[in-house]
Amino acid sequence: MKTINIAIDGPSGAGKSSISKAVARELCFVHVDTGAMYRAIGLYALRHDYLERETIEAHIGEVEIELKFIGTSQHVMLCGEDVTDYIRTPEVSMAASKVSAVPAVREHLLGLQKRIASENNVIMDGRDIGAVILPDADLKIFLTASAEERASRRYLELREKPDCPSYEEILRDIEQRDYNDMHRDIAPLRQAEDAVLVDTTSMGFNEVVERITAMVREVMNG
Ligand code: DC
Repeated sequence: MKTINIAIDGPSGAGKSSISKAVARELCFVHVDTGAMYRAIGLYALRHDYLERETIEAHIGEVEIELKFIGTSQHVMLCGEDVTDYIRTPEVSMAASKVSAVPAVREHLLGLQKRIASENNVIMDGRDIGAVILPDADLKIFLTASAEERASRRYLELREKPDCPSYEEILRDIEQRDYNDMHRDIAPLRQAEDAVLVDTTSMGFNEVVERITAMVREVMNG
């Protein structure tokens, strides 16, 4: 049976994961957060000191990544260990960003990502889903917001925490990551030609979830 595949791409901090998760829950789809897979490989590279391109390339064959779905919630298994709770630290973000620029790492995840989409109705979020992983997706969305808006959302999330960076620092970091994501040689972040742009700069969370859920329903009703 043909499954329904929705691709959601966009820059860091646009809310792809939380929005995809909410839409998936609404529609009983599986949400696949591909960033979490790169993060798990980043964690492996950190633990074994394989952060250099040559070392992660040489050892990528050892890295077993699996996703387990409990309801619509995704758990990432790294060589059999559930690492879901360990992949959101700044060190792992940095490691994920490094390993995700290595072609052998992307190649390693491609088959798994395609297989999950062929077996389930999915909302898959990442950077290259519409362009590379699911070029025939039923719907492609490029979810974005201005850098200033993304920085201010992040600042509001972090401001109660000790050592919260300033708004200006967060903005600089977001602009730097956008630049890196868009200018890397492999799978650079870009809007697929047939993707629908959803700019959430002046939209609330629920409004975005409703808009995207409605778009998916329209596609399902063909
Ligand atoms: O979305 P995120 O912050 O969890 O992603 C972690 C890192 O993985 C980030 O540096 C971008 C990269 N990534 C990627 O290159 N391709 C994807 N499909 C998803 C994430």
